[in-house]
Amino acid sequence: MSPIISVSNLSKTYGSGFKALNNINLGINRGEIFALLGPNGAGKTTLISIICGIANPSQGSISIGGHDIIKDYRAARSMIGLVPQELHTDAFESVWATVSFSRGLFGKPKNPAHIEKVLKDLSLWDKKDNKIITLSGGMKRRVMIAKALSHEPQILFLDEPTAGVDVELRKGMWEVVRTLQASGVTIILTTHYIEEAEEMADRIGVINKGEIILIEDKATLMQKLGKKHLTLQLQHKLDAIPEALAAYKLELSGDGRVVTYDYDTKGDRTGITSLLNDLRNAGIRISDLDTTQSSLEDIFVSLVRAP
Ligand SMILES: Nc1ncnc2c1ncn2[C@@H]1O[C@H](COP(=O)(O)OP(=O)(O)OP(=O)(O)O)[C@@H](O)[C@H]1O
Ligand SMILES: [Mg+2]
Repeated sequence: MSPIISVSNLSKTYGSGFKALNNINLGINRGEIFALLGPNGAGKTTLISIICGIANPSQGSISIGGHDIIKDYRAARSMIGLVPQELHTDAFESVWATVSFSRGLFGKPKNPAHIEKVLKDLSLWDKKDNKIITLSGGMKRRVMIAKALSHEPQILFLDEPTAGVDVELRKGMWEVVRTLQASGVTIILTTHYIEEAEEMADRIGVINKGEIILIEDKATLMQKLGKKHLTLQLQHKLDAIPEALAAYKLELSGDGRVVTYDYDTKGDRTGITSLLNDLRNAGIRISDLDTTQSSLEDIFVSLVRAP
């Protein structure tokens, strides 16, 4: 399947001379949820802005649904909805007008039923009074989503959709995103909430200092880079790890009562069963054990920290 968005050899140097993107190559598959992660200033917003035609590339090319974003600007842009990171709050005098106006920008005929549905889906509609509700910060973000959906785009960019949004609303936002995906929309989102990517994304891209340092299926990524950590509480104090157990590279706590074992989650041979057998054979008795698995957050931090 050919990607719905294809970014080739994209670089961006701002007027200041700062190189914000360096030779980005990226394909977004139709219908996926792609999470773009990266520290502040990594280049996420720059990349999205260029794909959406808000900033100009310095080098490289981008096509959306086969349309070049420069040569075939209108066709490319009509496929995209963008919820920007920065909200322009003065644009909210009339939610109805602002959302309808967004649709008009794409030359689509008026469709009040669609606008009303979008607003209702985003809980921006007061059913009791049958009118648009008064907006808080989180609601304004939903208005931005409503605007982005007004022209029925096939691709939706969400640049930090849940920044500053409370837990309940964030979960509501995830529901909206899932519903959109189910209706066939391709979604690219950026977030600093790693658990959001862990929860939502089909694929994860990590960008750091203007370069993509990783693109991977979420499941593969967690399996490939995920580590498990086993903690064993001992019944009796141990002075040292017996020689017979050296291969496991166990760590013994200072007080001699806790042994820890790190192993990766690749394949199904975790070695735990044989470790427990070998411990028993060495006469070591366990009073309790506990395992923890590394999260996407651990993986992300280790990737971005790497030299
Ligand atoms: N208009 C501009 N002129 C010059 N430099 C810019 C401009 N916009 C962004 N930059 C720089 O480009 C780099 C990437 O910025 P960008 O906004 O793309 O980062 P980001 O990954 O979206 O960060 P955040 O997570 O904070 O939103 C930063 O170093 C930023 O200072
Ligand atoms: Mg940004």
